[in-house]
Amino acid sequence: MSVNKTSKLKITVIHGPNLNLLGKRETKIYGHVTLDEINKKLHEIALSENIEISFFQSNHEGAIIDCIQDSLESHGFLINPAAFTHTSIAIRDALLAVNKPFVEVHLSDINNREDFRKISYFSDVAISVVSGLGENSYYKGLKTLIDHIKNEA
Ligand code: DQA
Repeated sequence: MSVNKTSKLKITVIHGPNLNLLGKRETKIYGHVTLDEINKKLHEIALSENIEISFFQSNHEGAIIDCIQDSLESHGFLINPAAFTHTSIAIRDALLAVNKPFVEVHLSDINNREDFRKISYFSDVAISVVSGLGENSYYKGLKTLIDHIKNEA
């Protein structure tokens, strides 16, 4: 990917289905943190790194695909595909189609839950996967993505 060195680096954060309910949803697994709180912290990290960041959440597979296709100005994606992790070849294909680096994150440890969660359609093509650290999965994932993008620039 060629990066225009004069333009600000941009990252798009995508949250998949049911993540809008964080804070209320299965709190024993996902904790009490809300999506707004996670986005606020991600925004602070991005600001401190002079990165522009935008946020998108949807419960709909097609809307997530449209977001990926429409994020032409983004240099990479931080994505928690949520349940689509285990089902969506279409979102995987969209990420490959736009040919941008992405980091896959999960609050819970998807390898230590039900067997169906062990399958990810994203992990083999992600630059990194961070799973099982709660909200810190997002923050670690963002830092990894920023390092990767800055090294490419
Ligand atoms: C999740 C794990 C997925 O298996 C689940 O469907 C989610 C959230 C996580 O962040 O731990 O919705 O992606």
